[in-house]
Amino acid sequence: MTASAVEIQARTLSGYADASRLRQVHDRDWVLDQVQGDPEVLLDLGSGIGQLLRSALDRHPSLRLAVGLERSEHRIAEAAERLRPYGDRVALHQADLTVPAPLEYRPDVVTMTSVLHWLYPDEDRILAWVGDHLAPGGHFLLTTYHPARDEHGLGGEDDLVRDALVALGAERESVPAVFAAGEGDADGAVLPIATRTRTVEDLAGLLERYFRVESVLDRDAVVHIEDAGQYSHFHAATFGDYYSRLVPPAQRAEFFRAVGDAAWRRQGERGWVSNMPVRLWKLQPRD
Ligand SMILES: C[S@@+](CC[C@H](N)C(=O)[O-])C[C@H]1O[C@@H](n2cnc3c(N)ncnc32)[C@H](O)[C@@H]1O
Repeated sequence: MTASAVEIQARTLSGYADASRLRQVHDRDWVLDQVQGDPEVLLDLGSGIGQLLRSALDRHPSLRLAVGLERSEHRIAEAAERLRPYGDRVALHQADLTVPAPLEYRPDVVTMTSVLHWLYPDEDRILAWVGDHLAPGGHFLLTTYHPARDEHGLGGEDDLVRDALVALGAERESVPAVFAAGEGDADGAVLPIATRTRTVEDLAGLLERYFRVESVLDRDAVVHIEDAGQYSHFHAATFGDYYSRLVPPAQRAEFFRAVGDAAWRRQGERGWVSNMPVRLWKLQPRD
């Protein structure tokens, strides 16, 4: 059986430039507005397709180097294409941020937008690493998402996935167990995103081990769509095949369709697909 277009999209995380307009892209200027003075080296962690790096280079001629660390080779390739006009002002490296390796640069700004939840529960390692690598006086600008969660730790995208699984025949009450199935296997359990994101209080405790919180800003990320298909593509480009492995391969194309339908239904009921608090933390390493 051949994979559907949306399954291929999920596997390669493609279509993000378009999909991220719905939610993540709004972090970019919000974060870059917090950069002060004339930075020389900026490091973006989980740099995706290079959108933040490009804006930073355009905004700050002082930047001699904009560095991206990213796990997905497809995303690095897309970023390299996008950033080609900036020549040797750009360096992109494939990296797993849960096991960060030493880096030769001492950035005066480190950014990380819409990424930290993917590093749960190992965020400590990258936080300590950022503290060690920032240049004196430098800042770490971090955005974190905080969907409400239920007693099973599910919320945000998990809720839409739950609706999709129910539409495909699952009992609503059994969905937390479907997420947890396979716990202990390398590719087994799907940790709910609302658990990965932690609460603001929990995260504040973690950050304060390594950083002094200089300021915080809060906004609500509200997602609206034009049709169900738009959300299927947003889900595939953002979450890849993270959730689709909850269903057998033969049901996956249908799964992406069902997530889009669930989003469209929700917008009909509530006026939006999702409405989620986002926090921007401006951090300085502890002395
Ligand atoms: C939601 S996207 C955000 C991309 C970009 N920062 C933005 O704001 O649009 C999350 C990114 O984190 C990357 N990522 C997830 N886990 C990672 C890890 N362990 N190491 C490096 N990158 C990771 C993904 O490949 C993806 O590009």
